[in-house]
Amino acid sequence: MRLTDALRGEHAILYEIFAGVRETLDESDEIAVIRTAVALLERNLMSHAAIEDEILFPELDTHIKGMGPLEMMRSEHQGIDEYLEAIRNETDVAQLKKQTGQLLELAFNHFQKEEMALFGMAEQFLSEDELTALGDKWASRRKVDVQGQSCMAAS
Ligand SMILES: [Fe+2]
Ligand SMILES: [Fe+2]
Repeated sequence: MRLTDALRGEHAILYEIFAGVRETLDESDEIAVIRTAVALLERNLMSHAAIEDEILFPELDTHIKGMGPLEMMRSEHQGIDEYLEAIRNETDVAQLKKQTGQLLELAFNHFQKEEMALFGMAEQFLSEDELTALGDKWASRRKVDVQGQSCMAAS
């Protein structure tokens, strides 16, 4: 499987987590309840961003280093980190809800840009073999067994 397709699949699950956090914000004013929802989001969002930072973006540096889309994605990852840090330290429930809402908006818009621009650029600049080799790195990192045709042919 191509890395870009694996990342699109991760986005789909993360959109569900975004929706769950949004529901929690609508339904609760309890700091502990909101923190629990954000902790699940943080764990999943950070591991997803780490895969992009460590497996995808370095490959794109060869082709589009310093160019707008790649550097914008990196700086938005940083922005997401900063929101999560601020949220961890926030003790006022109204501020916590506001910042969490802003984080959801930033993360959603970031995902849309990756899907509409960056992943397409990756597929333009990297070959199918390169994308599949990166997909194998993703599978090993996520500990899933990808039984693609190449695996079947090799056995
Ligand atoms: Fe990202
Ligand atoms: Fe992403």
